[in-house]
Amino acid sequence: MTVIIRGGTVVNADRAFRADVLCYGDKIVAVGENLDAPAHATVIDARGQYVMPGGIDTHTHMQLPFMGTVTADDFYTGTAAGLAGGTTTIMDFVIPDPKQSLLEAYHTWRGWARKAAGDYTFHVAVTWWDESVHREMGTLVREHGVNSFKHFMAYKNAIMADDETLVKSFSRALELGAIPTVHAENGELVFQLQRALLEKGIRGPAAHPLSRPPEVEAEAANRAITIAGVLGTPVYIVHVSCAEALDAITRARAGGQRVYGEALAGHLVIDDSVYRSDDLEFARAHVMSPPFRGRHHQDALWHGLQAGNLHTTATDHCTFCAEQKAMGKDDFTRIPNGCGGVEERMAVVWDAGVNSGRLTPSEFVRVTSTNAAQIFNMYPRKGLVAVGADADIVVWDPQGSRTISAKTQYSKGGFNVFEGRTVKGIPTHTLASGKLVFDKGQLCAEEGAGRYIDRPPFATTAA
Ligand code: URP
Ligand code: ZN
Ligand code: ZN
Ligand code: ZN
Repeated sequence: MTVIIRGGTVVNADRAFRADVLCYGDKIVAVGENLDAPAHATVIDARGQYVMPGGIDTHTHMQLPFMGTVTADDFYTGTAAGLAGGTTTIMDFVIPDPKQSLLEAYHTWRGWARKAAGDYTFHVAVTWWDESVHREMGTLVREHGVNSFKHFMAYKNAIMADDETLVKSFSRALELGAIPTVHAENGELVFQLQRALLEKGIRGPAAHPLSRPPEVEAEAANRAITIAGVLGTPVYIVHVSCAEALDAITRARAGGQRVYGEALAGHLVIDDSVYRSDDLEFARAHVMSPPFRGRHHQDALWHGLQAGNLHTTATDHCTFCAEQKAMGKDDFTRIPNGCGGVEERMAVVWDAGVNSGRLTPSEFVRVTSTNAAQIFNMYPRKGLVAVGADADIVVWDPQGSRTISAKTQYSKGGFNVFEGRTVKGIPTHTLASGKLVFDKGQLCAEEGAGRYIDRPPFATTAA
């Protein structure tokens, strides 16, 4: 398969320039002006458009068994939806049950992911601790291409990691050349606030954000950063949703600590008024953790991306249909937590970020792809349009627009948190491993075409 993308402006994180891009097999083989291409090559006319590295969503949950049910999107439908939106690689999570072998869980997830249409890789969660976890972390890093471990500081009585687990796992990650990541919320505080609200008879979805105020997130972010600082490990904070948690990252970075932060497309543009809707099904559909926040937090998150204190944009794509969300109709603590976005992230971040002047096109590429590839050691295979990189490319029409709706989405679950939002700046073509999988509104995702991406550890000493 040979594809030539002609006449566009290539946008990488470091610069933008006019060039054709020639892809052969699954790789980019030439980038330059007026390239020759074989007569049989598929030609994409990119005049007036940007040619960018395919998006990397650093945070998704496809086919996740969670809170008594399983997410609506599996690895096929979820990755296919991503391809329609210009995202060519997802980073999903293996989440072992407490006491379950990490390797056993890892192989279970690898099996589920075989039907993926786009490339994927896994962070592995450390939900408990003993010597076998220590040992299996080593096997995952050395033999299975895992270089990031996730820690949930929330979800008490389920997958929450206590401080002993955090300290031991962070140390082990450092030793192995892997990066620890955290969901930063104080799980004990959430648990007690939930109990107090239920005791007062406050049972609806409006109680969800009341049980998870910004301070709950800030305490955990500060704790994780402090632990990482004492041990000398880098740390990556997932779904930073509030000014106070961002402040913790900004302060640590100013003090020379290597801390990375991830913002979700949803947290950047949706506010907490959704929980106060009289339409309880609508309110429940927005229940995710951390919750959507008041307006000033969105401004803070944009400033974090602009200043370089937040590095990646993701979605935490974790979809549930209305019947699943209704499991918590009489008790907000039983509403399965999670919202979608893998299909919309790129367009939402472009529309709210680039069209507003907050981000340049190169900065957009940095926060939607390149930083993720660098932080998680997939660069320059991913995150860059250059000779030798994977032919994962999105051709982007800055003048094109569409109105987002659950009625037209590929993602399952029947709901869209960005419903009714008109975005200007949309993908016209997506190339994944050199195959044209999205072509002017037509999705031709192939089940099983996605590949597992090995991520080697970071070198701790010079060879
Ligand atoms: O509400 C959320 N975010 N659900 C998915 C699990 C997690 O915490 O990331
Ligand atoms: Zn989380
Ligand atoms: Zn998540
Ligand atoms: Zn259903």
